Order: sequence, then C-alpha cells, then structure tokens
Amino acid sequence: MSVASEEKIIVLDFGAQYVQLIVRKVREQHVYADIRPASTPVREMVGEGLKGLIFSGGPSSVYQEGAPSIDPAIFDAGIPILGICYGHQLMAHVLGGTVSPGSQREYGRTPIEVLEPDLLLANVATGCQTWMSHGDHVTQVHPGFEILATSQNTPVAAMADTKRHLYGVQFHPEVQHTPCGPQILHNFLYKACGCTGTWQAQAFIEETVSELRQRVGKDRVLCGISGGVDSAVTAALLGLAIGDQLTGMFIDHGLLRTGEAEQVTALFRELLGGRFVAINAAERFLQALEGITDPEEKRRIIGETFIRTFEAESAQLGEFKYIAHGTLYPDVIESGGGGTDRIKTHHNVGGLPADMKYENIEPLRRLFKDEVRRIGLELGLPREIVQRQPFPGPGLAVRIIGEVTPERLAMVCGADAIMHEELERAGLTDEIAQSFAVFVGIESVGVMGDERTYAHPVVIRAVSTDDFMTADWARIPHEVLARISSRIVNEVRGVNRVLYDITSKPPATIEWE
Ligand code: XMP
Repeated sequence: MSVASEEKIIVLDFGAQYVQLIVRKVREQHVYADIRPASTPVREMVGEGLKGLIFSGGPSSVYQEGAPSIDPAIFDAGIPILGICYGHQLMAHVLGGTVSPGSQREYGRTPIEVLEPDLLLANVATGCQTWMSHGDHVTQVHPGFEILATSQNTPVAAMADTKRHLYGVQFHPEVQHTPCGPQILHNFLYKACGCTGTWQAQAFIEETVSELRQRVGKDRVLCGISGGVDSAVTAALLGLAIGDQLTGMFIDHGLLRTGEAEQVTALFRELLGGRFVAINAAERFLQALEGITDPEEKRRIIGETFIRTFEAESAQLGEFKYIAHGTLYPDVIESGGGGTDRIKTHHNVGGLPADMKYENIEPLRRLFKDEVRRIGLELGLPREIVQRQPFPGPGLAVRIIGEVTPERLAMVCGADAIMHEELERAGLTDEIAQSFAVFVGIESVGVMGDERTYAHPVVIRAVSTDDFMTADWARIPHEVLARISSRIVNEVRGVNRVLYDITSKPPATIEWE
C-alpha cells in the first residue's frame, strides 16, 4: 500500500480561488490530500484510505441557479466532513438548516467566540482571529448540529454534528490570517478522521524508490537535469532506485542565466559522476524559436525541442525506455490537469510532443515545491540545490516578451546578473523566493552623457512566496533598488530604464509569460 493511499483526505473543489492552499495546509499536518471536482460521485472516492472530506469555499450562493451542490448521500457515507465557507453553507442548506443572505458582506479579520471547546475547536481560544470572506451565512442549524462558535455578524461561525462527524466553519482555517487554522485542521484530521500522519518525507522516499524500482525493472531511464531542485530530487530518487540504469542529461538550451550552465555541469558531475551527460544545444533552440512571439507557442516549441534533443543525443548512449521529469503538482494544476482553468502550459506537462518515444516518469507529480525541498534535504542533497530559486524550464524565453534574439538574451542576462549580485550583497536572498529581469519589448527615450537614447526598459521582479501558487512582491529597500537600477542602466548595453514590478500573484503570475 502506498503512503498516499494509507491515509487520504479529498478536498472537493466548489470553485475556491485557493483550493490548493487547503491541500497544502492538510499536508503540512502530515496527511496526504488531493483535489477533486465537487461533482465527483461518492462511490469514486470511498475506499483507498479515504479518511475524510473537505468541502472548499466558492464564489456561489446556495440559492443561485446552477450553484454547485452535493449528493446528500455523502453525509450518510460514514466519512467525516469539514465544510469551509461555501462548503459550510452548503452542508447546512442540504441538511435542512437555514442559510440567509448577510445584510452586509463580512470580509477580513474577525474574532470568534468559542461556545464548545471540544473536538473541532479543542485548544482554540475564544477571541481568536479568523479570516472571513462571505455574503451569505448560516442562521439556523439542523437538529443534530450544535453551534460551536459565533462572531459578531455570524451566528454560526462553526457547527458540528459530532455523531456523524460533520463539521462546518464559516471562516477560512487554511489562510495565514486565521492563526488557529492549523489547530482546527489538526483537530479535524486527527480527532474526527482518526488520521495518524503517514505523509512524511522519509516514507515518501522509501515508497517512491520501491515503486520506481518495480516499474522500471531492468530498463534504462533518461532523466532531464535542469539544475533546479525538482530534477535533482527526481534524479536522486532514481539513483537510489535503479543505480547505473539512470543517465542524467543536462541540455543547455542557451536560455540560461550567466554562468549557470557551467555551475550545473560542475555540480552534477560531482553528484552523478559517469551517469551525467551535458549537451550544448543553444543553436538548435534559438533557431527553433526564430520569429516566434506567442508565449504558449514558445513553450510548446521548447518542450518539443527538448524531447527531440534528448532523443537525438541519447540514441548514441543506447536504448532508453523512460524519460523522467521533475513535474510538480502546481505544474499539473496550472496546465489544466487538476480540473481547473489552464493558466500556462508548463513545458514538461502540456508541451511534450504526442509521438515522443519514451514513457514518462514523474515521481514528484503530487508534490508542492516546499515538500520537494524537504525531501531533497532528507536525501542529503547540497543546500545550494535544495534552496535554489526556481527557474522555469523554458528559461529566459519566457522572460523575453516577443521574439527571442541573442541581443535580447544578452540584455536579460546582464540585468539578471546585476540584480542577483546586489540582492546578495544586501543580504536579501533568503527572504526573496524568486527574482529576475524581464525584457518587455518596448522602447523609451532617455538621456545619457548629454545624448538622447532610444533604448529598452527592463522590468525587474522579486517575489516572496512559499509555494509559488500565490506570491507577494518583495519590499526591497529603495537604496538597493536604486543601486540595481543605476548599475543596469550603466552596465547593460541597450537598456535605458528600469521598472520594478509591484504586482502580486494573483492577479499577475510570477513570470511575465
Ligand atoms: P507563474 O509564472 O505561473 O510561475 O506564477 C510559478 C512558478 O513556476 C515557474 N514556471 C515554470 N516552470 N516550466 C517550469 O518548469 C514552465 O513553463 C514554467 N512557467 C513558470 C515560475 O518560474 C515560478 O517559479
């Protein structure tokens, strides 16, 4: 039995913006969780270690025509359920409680008064802050339910039918602004669902290594190495599972940052020894990208060129049945694989050609970045790999708006290198999750040495985030921004203006394309 299926929570998605956040917060409690559409039939979910369900929030009102609903049979299936916000209202509505439109929207930090400090609200102090964001609210609970907490504008801030283990909270326990949220989730998972906490790095490693060994048998695996933590952890797991049947291949697509190809090559030669191959395919990629401006098309071409290069280069090394990638859960979700809208096709998910001759291996497909980092540390990978900033597979191509040309690459590389040097000098690298420069493809007037210039602005971007699903722009001190700006304009040919991107994700994404 796999670790994931030993204990599992399914989060039913009722259209919540941050449904992934619920999943992450559950996993932080060492219980595996996964997202499914709200319409998933009960019979498809029970079994396979299902310990409980969480109904997410969502933008609808239960009275709205076409609002997502739920099969009432779910409440009698003997599965503990926690409803959050819309999920809480839906539970009350379907079971015969009363949901009323609030006289005003309640939004923001709200203290709750705890009436029943048992089970769900055990160790939650009365007066604790919660994060509310709702219009409708539950005004009356169905017989069998009791009110566990109230707030000034919400008569039923939390409710429970402890016999059936059905719970609802009007607020959002998954967000940072509900400091007692982790305790509430912990209570639900361990007290109501009876979880024991099997989702642990070491258990994941053991299970994955054994699964990989079984699946691969005596065949050989080619593992794409990018230098980032995801592919390094993928290679390390494969190394443990199949030893010399693994070949790590680093393809320099010419879209890397200054000095990066050399660093990655040196590091992985040391880690993988004779099982590591480095290929320079810069010309091939630049040619394939000539004249291409559409971001999705760039990703598709890069995905395809990667595979064609792997095929051509590996042919000289013998027969490979599998190709391994460090695809993560957010890549799958954002590429439209989790039942949500496609935001951008990650090159290693939707960008692979259909006639690829290898079978895919993606051991990290269920993981978030912070989980991969924990596994990397557990595997003993060097800190410089584990803590490395993520870098998109399509490289600087998605940081150049419009066509990728050598001149534009030189500008982005130059600006990027200066930004990193200055952030490091200012001691800011630990608090910034990702930072880079973007060539935005516009021109502006400037004056340099008494002469008019008509050259390119670059945008610099730095964000803080744990999971890269949401992010805030980094509050870099003005004097550091000033140094970065002045150095870029003075040292990078063709750039005459520097802009700082102060948009969070959402509504923007981290990368510009
Ligand atoms: P966005 O721009 O979607 O980025 O907010 C989230 C994280 O994913 C990285 N990213 C990619 N990584 N292939 C990758 O391997 C891609 O196509 C890709 N697009 C974005 C991005 O750098 C950020 O860390």
